[in-house]
Amino acid sequence: MSISQQAFLRDAMRRLNLTRDVFATRIGVKRRALDTWLLPEGSQEFRAMPEVVERFVSEIVQNSALLEKYTQSAQAGPLRERIAVDGKHQLISVDQFSRESVEDLFRVADLMQPIARRQKVSRVLEGAVLGNLFFEASTRTRVSFGSAFCRLGGSVCDTTGFTFSSMAKGESIYDTSRVMSGYVDAMVIRHPDQGSVAEFARATNIPVVNGGDGPGEHPSQALLDLYTILTEFSRLGKLLDGAHIAMVGDLKYGRTVHSLIKLLALYKGIKFTLISPPGLEMPAYIIEQASRNDNVIEQKSVLADGLAGVDVIYATRVQKERFANDETEGYTADFQISRAMIDTHCGPDTIVMHPLPRDSRPGANDLSVDLNDDPRLAIFRQTDNGIPIRMAIFAVLLGVEGLVQHSMRDVTWKHPSHIGPDDSTFHGLD
Ligand code: NCD
Repeated sequence: MSISQQAFLRDAMRRLNLTRDVFATRIGVKRRALDTWLLPEGSQEFRAMPEVVERFVSEIVQNSALLEKYTQSAQAGPLRERIAVDGKHQLISVDQFSRESVEDLFRVADLMQPIARRQKVSRVLEGAVLGNLFFEASTRTRVSFGSAFCRLGGSVCDTTGFTFSSMAKGESIYDTSRVMSGYVDAMVIRHPDQGSVAEFARATNIPVVNGGDGPGEHPSQALLDLYTILTEFSRLGKLLDGAHIAMVGDLKYGRTVHSLIKLLALYKGIKFTLISPPGLEMPAYIIEQASRNDNVIEQKSVLADGLAGVDVIYATRVQKERFANDETEGYTADFQISRAMIDTHCGPDTIVMHPLPRDSRPGANDLSVDLNDDPRLAIFRQTDNGIPIRMAIFAVLLGVEGLVQHSMRDVTWKHPSHIGPDDSTFHGLD
């Protein structure tokens, strides 16, 4: 098999749109056996699936009528052409994606997992240089984009803040972007103004990735969030079509939720419960766009009223830095997502997400740390997924995704486990 067994099986379930239980029944095996085949190859409980199963699965995938649409999209050309903006290979908005192209990107991310988990190395981007231009605070987005580029063999040059860039001397976005094109082969940009990253992208032909444009969008975050939801649902035996998702907090200025709700709306029959303090509601134009595909949207202003029966709680930080004046004091204590709140209103299969950072200062009432050792808290599995997703974005935009599989070599060094001391472990990782 040219791809890993895990990637092969996950891909088959996604293409057939089947849960693990239904898939196991369909191919006539025990769920437990399927679970062991789906573990990463290095893990203790991993088992190789029999060859006859591999042939059988390939056959049902090929025969499935559902496959038609995938074949059509594959015929429509490479992924980077299908998501291109005005013929340019850039990632500015989630609006560039269809359900098929987003799932194609996730297949590339699955391929990247052995590299992201430090079992393999690859040098497909050797010689390429990334310009990481961050004009707003960032820890995970900046470092994970840089790390993803390096893990594919490229190198990274950074600028952080306005103070240390020539924009402090009045340089325009156009000039900055044109100058950078002569120095680097791709750019990731974070900037406080909505629409600014698209302006950078118009002034250059090299790939530009939006790392967050003010209260606008944050497409790579939404992609890693959706990838996390699908991975968690696979473990829990759930499908995304028909799921119930709660988005909580500052939905007015939170760019992560602006991108995520549009991406989730590519799926069918989703119920969205949007819970925000008065004045911080999701903008109407985004609600309008997300209500397509038979999706239902309800809005609430009291946290406890919106959590019953949800499959995912996606919490966000109050974006005080974007307030023109002190519109609100932030979260009151009854807006805090805590273990008690989850135990009272949600089931054992609910997953709790947050793009991070969470504000852990006293009185902020952001996502509580008392959930840290609760398996429902998916925030660090979410941040870990930033690496394979951002590697996939670069591989696709620079057109090397087809070279990755054959470029992989075993790592020659031993790294300590990256799993934290309080983390629950899934997927055979330890
Ligand atoms: C978010 C952002 O910058 O939009 N963080 C992130 O990139 N993971 C969320 C936030 O700052 O609240």
